[in-house]
Amino acid sequence: MDAIIFLVIRAVHVLVAALWIGSTVFVSTLLMPTIETSGPAGGQVFAGINRRGLHIYMATLSLTTLASGLYLLRHFAGAFEVSTVVATHAGIVFATGGVSGILAGVIGGGVVGRGSAQITALMGAAVPLPDGPAKGSLLQQAAALRQRVKMATRVVIALQMAALVCMAVGHYV
Ligand code: HEM
Repeated sequence: MDAIIFLVIRAVHVLVAALWIGSTVFVSTLLMPTIETSGPAGGQVFAGINRRGLHIYMATLSLTTLASGLYLLRHFAGAFEVSTVVATHAGIVFATGGVSGILAGVIGGGVVGRGSAQITALMGAAVPLPDGPAKGSLLQQAAALRQRVKMATRVVIALQMAALVCMAVGHYV
């Protein structure tokens, strides 16, 4: 029974990790640049995917990847003590990948997810205002946040890639 649970969680881990990285890369390299260059229609699409729960979808993928990863690391090393985990090369590599994945999740939720929610709120507040300094200030804040989210997303992708490489080679080092 333990073996079946392990295999199911391992399969879930690989599936959600693939969806998490794939979705992050798709959103940042194709969807967001298209939205940004589509004027008011782009704003509607951005608000629409956020209403449909893009941030909940991404948070679910990242939390499921991290939770299943922690289970796998515990299963692999037999314990969570640092000395046990780093006792083998494979343990060191899986732990390094695990830390990268956890950092990707923290920055993804804390900076990218929160920033995107703030951008949606700022744009929502700006739309009904007449052109003028108040609207200009809201749009400026949204543009600054967008830059921050873009930078943070690049860091998240780099960390996800580092985690993926570590996971892929872990058993063979
Ligand atoms: C972006 C995040 C992550 C990605 C893309 C990812 C991807 C993967 C993949 C593809 C495998 C299968 C490797 C193989 O078949 O040889 C794997 C296995 C594994 N992952 Fe992750 N993972 C991530 C996060 C984590 C985290 C946060 C942890 C732990 C804290 C973790 C722990 C493990 C362990 C221990 C295994 C090996 C399980 C075993 O065969 O004993 N992963 N991961």
